[in-house]
Amino acid sequence: MSGEALRSVDLRKTYQSRGAPTVEALKGVSMEVHRGERVALLGRNGAGKTTFLRIASTLLRPTSGSVEIFDIDIAAAPQKARPYIAVVPQEGKPFFHLTPREQIYTYLRARGFARETAKARTEEALDRMGLTGFANQLSVTLSGGQRQRTMVATVIATEAPLLFLDEPTIGMDPFARREVWASLRALTQKGSTILLTTHYLDEAEVLSQRLYIVERGVVLSSGTAEELKRSVGGTLKVLIPDGASQAERFRSFGTCVTDGLSLTVVVSPNALGEVMGLVTRSGMTATVGPVTLEEAFLRAVGRSINED
Ligand SMILES: Nc1ncnc2c1ncn2[C@@H]1O[C@H](COP(=O)(O)OP(=O)(O)O)[C@@H](O)[C@H]1O
Ligand SMILES: [Mg+2]
Repeated sequence: MSGEALRSVDLRKTYQSRGAPTVEALKGVSMEVHRGERVALLGRNGAGKTTFLRIASTLLRPTSGSVEIFDIDIAAAPQKARPYIAVVPQEGKPFFHLTPREQIYTYLRARGFARETAKARTEEALDRMGLTGFANQLSVTLSGGQRQRTMVATVIATEAPLLFLDEPTIGMDPFARREVWASLRALTQKGSTILLTTHYLDEAEVLSQRLYIVERGVVLSSGTAEELKRSVGGTLKVLIPDGASQAERFRSFGTCVTDGLSLTVVVSPNALGEVMGLVTRSGMTATVGPVTLEEAFLRAVGRSINED
């Protein structure tokens, strides 16, 4: 293995299906993932995250552009790249007629692991993902969250050099999500590299070391969560729930972002008093908090991550 874990150059994908409008899902995406890094693609529904992941994991061919995994051009030699990667696809399901224990073990055996290694890794992954209580239950009898944990456990158990996870914690309870985050961190400490997609701001911030904000097939912004937050231009946000119509009056204080009826003004601490004075004089109320990734996202994309 040599080179970056992943490098894409000007990746484009246009979907053309009979009777349906043509969709440009990726419009020239270039990015790198360094070895041992955890990187998130953060974006709204339809941004192109799944398309990128499917192409990068050799499941879909791009319209143009290239992807290299450890310096292997995956279009030229997908079979050479596959042993290095493992994928949790979006809406993937474990085999219904297998138990989580059977599913993980069988997958590891299919990937060429010896019996003893496969057994040990299976038990470790079940334990890590809190699945030991239902490890011998047919997957068809599990809840959605338990099935998703089984999918993640299956891929984590491979300890593959490069892991792709498409919205890995969707449908999970808050405790299970934290187990996933801890397992993924542990894996990168062992040397694996992780590329995940998410539309959860907290997941992107807590888990990834670097992130790419994507919207309509384009990377709009990238960096660490700290860098993205700093680019918003202040450390405090003043949220005025019904201030959108008054945005003009607040522009001189800092970056203003409207989201539906609400207005968020990003300010430095020394401007706070004046802004709150204006809020009160205008007969409105406001809450003050630290700037988060949400403001960085709103600024880059112009719309909130959950808005349709
Ligand atoms: N197989 C397909 N055929 C046609 N259009 C598709 C197909 N898959 C995805 N799209 C469209 O491509 C765009 C990007 O989708 P996707 O990559 O799934 O985004 P995300 O994962 O960020 O929600 C969307 O407009 C979606 O409707
Ligand atoms: Mg998706």
